[in-house]
This record gives sequence, structure tokens and C-alpha cells, in this order.
Amino acid sequence: MIFTVAIDGPAAAGKGTISRAVAARFGFRHLDTGLLYRAVGAKGGDPVAAAVGLAPADLERGDLRTLEAGQAASKVAAIPEVRAALVAFQRRFARAEGGAVLDGRDIGTVICPEAEVKLYVTASAEVRAHRRWLEVGGDLSVVLAEVRERDARDMGRADAPLKAAADAVVLDTSEMSVEEAVERAIAVVQARMEGR
Ligand code: DC
Repeated sequence: MIFTVAIDGPAAAGKGTISRAVAARFGFRHLDTGLLYRAVGAKGGDPVAAAVGLAPADLERGDLRTLEAGQAASKVAAIPEVRAALVAFQRRFARAEGGAVLDGRDIGTVICPEAEVKLYVTASAEVRAHRRWLEVGGDLSVVLAEVRERDARDMGRADAPLKAAADAVVLDTSEMSVEEAVERAIAVVQARMEGR
């Protein structure tokens, strides 16, 4: 069975949690595509060369989840040659036998427009900043500024900007618990699988 669940949305909207839960529920593989851009940003040097030469070990670094790594990722992600170097790997992952969940910014729009399920997971910038702050600590206003800056860059870039696919189901998690958001996402996937 080939079945792709594309989960896109801005930083800290809950994509990761939802993706892992959907993958576990249906026995699908999961790829956090943000990690690819984080690894490219963290490598330093020429980002295009880093993307072309990206290896599995690069994704194992312990420093990829920080705010700084997120900003560096967002910057290298605006370079078309970096994005191009990562397309084939993501497409293979999405369309390999067995079912896959990919989360990122352009999965439903660019990487896998044929995905069987597209979810656009979002929440207000304030709610997302608060969630991220609970994880990373520090100054809430700095985290909010970081979220806003990354949103602006990810949505404003020319190549594969963050936006909901026309046929995506939009899930605004601002006022939802984690459990509720996960439940809704699973229901969307379930309905689509039954409709096949
Ligand atoms: O999902 P994340 O916060 O780990 O993503 C880090 C950055 O990588 C994000 O700000 C933009 C970029 N990114 C992207 O451009 N396309 C993707 N599919 C995933 C992430």
C-alpha cells in the first residue's frame, strides 16, 4: 500500500506530536523534514554542498532542536538549490511501500501534491510561542519574536513558501488539547483510508 499523509504548518503548531501519533496509530513510517534543513544549517560551510552531501549521521546531532538551529534551518531553507537537493529523498520516503507521514512546510504543496491526506496544522503565534517556551525556557518575548520571524521567512520566501494546499484540511490547534488535535488528525486519516 502506498499512502502518504502530508502534515504542514508553522513552527510549534503541533505537527511533530500529531505526526508521530498518526504514524504510530497506522503503522506508517515518519519523516520530520525540518530535521533535514536543521542538519544542513548546523553543518556550516556552503549550505548547498551540505545539502547535497547530507548523510544519516548528520541527522543524529544533539544540537538540532534549539531555537538557533531553527533559525539557521529557516535561512538555508530559502535557498532553492538546498531545497532541490532534498526533494528526491523526501519523495522516495513518501511514496515507498507501507505508508508514510511527512511533516514540514511544503509536503502537500511541493514534495507530495498527490498525498492521500493533507493536513495544515496551525495555531496563533502567541499560543505557539508559549508552547515552545515551555520546552526551551528563557524569555517568552524572545521566543515569540523568533516564532514571528521564522513565520515571516518561511511564508515569504519565493521557493516553496509555507501555505496550506488548496485541498488540505486545516486544523487550528490554538484552543485544542494535544489529545484532541491528535484525535482529529487520526479521524481525518481514518476516513480517507475507509473511502478508498
Ligand atoms: O519544522 P522545523 O521547525 O524543524 O523546521 C525548521 C525550518 O526548516 C523551518 O523554519 C523552515 C524549514 N523547513 C522547510 O523549509 N521545509 C520543510 N519541509 C521543513 C522545514
